Amino acid sequence: SRTLSIGIVGLGTVGTGVIRLIEENAMLIARRSGQTISIGAITARDRNKDRGVDLRGYRWVDDMLEMADDPELDIIVELIGGSDGPALTLAKKALTNGKSLVTANKAMIAHHGLELAELAETNGAALHYEAAVAGGIPAIKGVREGTAANRIERIYGILNGTSNYILSTMETSGRDFDDVLAEAQALGYAEADPSFDIDGVDAAHKLSILASLAFASRLDFDAVATEGIRAIQAADIAQADALGYRIRLLGLAERHDGDKASELFQRVHPYLVPKSHPLANVDGSTNAVVAEGNFSGRLLFQGAGAGDGPTASAVVADIIAIARGELSPAFAMPVKALEPCAPAESGHR
Ligand code: NAP
Ligand code: HSE
Repeated sequence: SRTLSIGIVGLGTVGTGVIRLIEENAMLIARRSGQTISIGAITARDRNKDRGVDLRGYRWVDDMLEMADDPELDIIVELIGGSDGPALTLAKKALTNGKSLVTANKAMIAHHGLELAELAETNGAALHYEAAVAGGIPAIKGVREGTAANRIERIYGILNGTSNYILSTMETSGRDFDDVLAEAQALGYAEADPSFDIDGVDAAHKLSILASLAFASRLDFDAVATEGIRAIQAADIAQADALGYRIRLLGLAERHDGDKASELFQRVHPYLVPKSHPLANVDGSTNAVVAEGNFSGRLLFQGAGAGDGPTASAVVADIIAIARGELSPAFAMPVKALEPCAPAESGHR
């Protein structure tokens, strides 16, 4: 049978989750993808770190950029993070060389997704990033493919597991913010720099990606007006509760069609959500994405938004999609066909 060889760059929460999943579900993955998926090379910063998985059987490559030139590798799986720097250099090199790229890196996609998608289109490679938005929920495929026939009126949801974990745990336990944030970090939910989570930046990365998919518009991260949950105190949560609300950090994008052009509103901030609304009952690191299409009606995608297993599930689904030869555009359409959408207000970055 044929073998598809992958190079994994980054062996933290997500990278080790991907290795565990590929080892444990190897037979099932081979049957569904029609090929054996083989881990042809791995790397991270520290070769000697104990990662809780046995890596002795895998080929370690010191310089990650060598993987992008390695004719033995078909797919590069980037799991180190960071919008620029080594992740971006690696991604560009891999795609330029015609290698497909799978990434969980929402920061890189939010800032450079269109450029990377164009590189993929030019070089006949695939760019997949399902794990970048909403962890284990197939939100990218759900919106890009599942709602493709609709005019989307609005897309919104709980897009950051760490913030939701903090808000919902403070609500039920009365514990303080810093204590719950430390727990979310220990559970592997938080970004390397957790200010991205609590200041709403991570949710803004994800919202800008979803908005581009939903409205077939050019991705515009700088237009997202962003406010996080840093200022929320136990007293705010208690007052909201007394009034019949829960506080949730939501991302929301909607298009307003004026006389001249479409305007795209994109914003992330804490909302008061009535207790009767489905999003008020989304707790812990769970994420939820709501898409409202003119024929589909309201769709709700809900599930684990962070952590090793759910994120690995999305990464490996992308690898299987590439093994099956799925070469759909990375965004709603080829990059040149995406509409610029006038931002309704400028983000504050
Ligand atoms: P992590 O646990 O911090 O792991 C990052 C890995 O990248 C580590 O193994 C680290 O090496 C390696 N690395 C960092 N810089 C490197 C460099 N310059 N050269 C080589 N290796 C480097 O992060 P993570 O949580 O797995 O997240 C990885 C990516 O997935 C990020 O883009 C993140 O936003 C995204 N993501 C995470 C989750 C989640 O729930 N954690 C969910 C969805 C998406 P060492 O271990 O040797 O230091
Ligand atoms: N730090 C992110 C979160 C990881 O908490 O949602 C998943 O993207």
